[in-house]
Amino acid sequence: MISSKDTEKMIKKGIILAGGAGTRMSPLTKAVNKQLLPIYDKPLIFYPLSILMLSKIKNILIIVNKGQINHYKKLIPNGKNLGLNITYKEQDKPRGLPDAFILGEKFIGKDDVAMILGDNFFYGQGLSENLKKCIKLKSGAKIFLHKVTNPQSFGVAKVDKRNKILKIVEKPKKYISNLAVTGLYFFDNNVVKYAKSLKPSKRNELEIIDLLNIYKKKNKLSAEYIGRGGAWLDTGTLEDYYKTSTFVYAVQNRQGLKIACLEEIALLNKWINKNYVKKQIKFYGNCSYSNYLKRIIKSSV
Ligand code: TTP
Repeated sequence: MISSKDTEKMIKKGIILAGGAGTRMSPLTKAVNKQLLPIYDKPLIFYPLSILMLSKIKNILIIVNKGQINHYKKLIPNGKNLGLNITYKEQDKPRGLPDAFILGEKFIGKDDVAMILGDNFFYGQGLSENLKKCIKLKSGAKIFLHKVTNPQSFGVAKVDKRNKILKIVEKPKKYISNLAVTGLYFFDNNVVKYAKSLKPSKRNELEIIDLLNIYKKKNKLSAEYIGRGGAWLDTGTLEDYYKTSTFVYAVQNRQGLKIACLEEIALLNKWINKNYVKKQIKFYGNCSYSNYLKRIIKSSV
């Protein structure tokens, strides 16, 4: 049972960082932002948005590239029909992941905040339960770790037996662990102050690893795991992008259930009723996604 005291402590705001150059996927990303491209039957942005919704976060800031707010608004105008409060902000150039907290300072205000990268895909049993644990963060920061076979390509964390983070290193040349730091983070309000204190790296970006190391040095960084059988895919390269699409196709067709159906999650969370789903069906038009929504309306009580 969740007491009202607990509710007060929960993280209620989230940021999706959905800008970026998308260089590795050029020329696909020359005219269209990566997060608007399809992962099987939905735009990529639906997947990280669904993760924030599964974390019961309703107040969401989406950071997009300069001049692209209108592209996103065509797809998700303001979130009202999903029971969300969505606002947008432009990033004039990719200044690095911690820039989200500088751009989002006003949105964050005095609150704690979750952040998810717009191109990260998460799926797995028990994930919703883990997310609900993460939003109860009292202070410090929490990161999601996942085992990978190629740790040299990611930010990597070394943890002790008690799950205490001992070290975080960006793309380690020498093996330190196979636990990659994924693109889902939960921070206390200090994140704004700490992000502002960072200096750009050699590649002239603010680095998330530097931000996490501030928390680590203060003994305020903890880890959560996606778990065995769970999937985390960073869709930044063409290969991973198509792998993710294939994964969604395979899971959905086997189960007859959609991954990241936003309206389904909003209904489950009791944020909207069937009338809102009907509005969304009208908005999307005659397509398989709408047919799925029609099925949901019929089957929900
Ligand atoms: P990256 O994978 O670091 O970069 P990218 O998407 O621009 O791709 P590439 O490396 O091929 O040029 O970004 C991870 C996610 O964060 C992605 O969804 C884009 C987003 N992002 C921003 O919105 N602003 C930024 O300043 C950066 C660095 C990334």
